[in-house]
Amino acid sequence: MPKALWLSEQGLAAELREVTEAELAGTSDQAGAGSDSDTRVRIRVEYSDINYKDALAVTGSPGVVRNYPLVPGIDVVGVVENDPSGTFNPGDRVIGVGGGLGETMHGGFAELALVDAPLLTKVPERFDNLTAAAIGTAGFTAALCVNRLLVHGIEPESEVWVTGSTGGVGSVAVSLLAALGFEAVAVTSKVATAEDYLLGLGASRVVDAGDFKEAGRSLQSATIGSAIDTLGSVPLANLLARTVPGGIVAACGLAAGGDLPTSVMPFILRSVTLAGVNSVHPLPGWREAAWDLLDTALDTDALLAATREISLPEVADAAKTLLDGSNSGRFVVKL
Ligand SMILES: NC(=O)c1ccc[n+]([C@@H]2O[C@H](COP(=O)([O-])OP(=O)(O)OC[C@H]3O[C@@H](n4cnc5c(N)ncnc54)[C@H](OP(=O)(O)O)[C@@H]3O)[C@@H](O)[C@H]2O)c1
Repeated sequence: MPKALWLSEQGLAAELREVTEAELAGTSDQAGAGSDSDTRVRIRVEYSDINYKDALAVTGSPGVVRNYPLVPGIDVVGVVENDPSGTFNPGDRVIGVGGGLGETMHGGFAELALVDAPLLTKVPERFDNLTAAAIGTAGFTAALCVNRLLVHGIEPESEVWVTGSTGGVGSVAVSLLAALGFEAVAVTSKVATAEDYLLGLGASRVVDAGDFKEAGRSLQSATIGSAIDTLGSVPLANLLARTVPGGIVAACGLAAGGDLPTSVMPFILRSVTLAGVNSVHPLPGWREAAWDLLDTALDTDALLAATREISLPEVADAAKTLLDGSNSGRFVVKL
């Protein structure tokens, strides 16, 4: 029987156990809208990875999982065994990110997964399966954010600030921006310990996150052209307050909080754009554009140097380091 991390009910941490195929087929809710286990792609899972959401889910924290029991893991990377929909061939390497995996549907922390074909993308030839998992939702989200800035018209060689830069999204964002010729300014709470790591990813300079921690006026001295924010709350309010007229902030995260203590002033007096990013249900065309960008530009050496491979029993401890903010880089989980 396949091994899996299993969340039996709300409030309890995930346990490692063997699961039956019937359990993995799940309830009709867990099969996803309009599908059942007979129409889903059967995947021999090779890797998953740990995102902030996974850390919340496996430790039994509220806010992510909405169906119990559930296999957590918002990312799935593996090899297709069978696809009744005819979209994929046996042996195809596929990745699924978001779409409800590990939240409402069984996710990637199991040796076998049944996933709706529209949630899957063929892994680009350039990436092996471990690299695809190291990218995962974090890298996919970073690419969605970078694309928002590119569509807005940011110019190469200009500065792009990235908050939470040692995290999964932030690390890939810094690496991607550097590869595209932007000056990535890495904002981090870990200047003392992670400066070399961030410069190694391609950051042009590293800035202390303490500069963004205290609540301030909604308009401040305008020094930031564009930014990617993974924190929300006061840091995002300060980014907006310091963004130049016509500048843009792509916001994807809430590691510092889900509130946004600002006013309309940056928007109505400086024409600042706040661009939202949702990796779970990206708008039509955005999924393909994000994978194209990653395929074209991502420096996989830098990403892999910042990636640690762990096993299912090690997921709980790794998750705690994401939740207490002490982690740098990516955890890939080998199934
Ligand atoms: N919109 C979407 O679709 C989407 C997709 C993926 C992720 N997200 C969200 O984006 C955020 C980052 O995700 P991730 O996977 O990159 O997480 P992660 O790997 O845990 O990184 C988060 C980073 O934020 C900083 N941080 C952590 N706790 C903090 C706190 N309490 N106050 C201020 N800074 C803190 C740390 O960076 P430094 O020490 O370097 O400052 C940490 O490394 C999360 O909120 C996640 O839910 C959203």
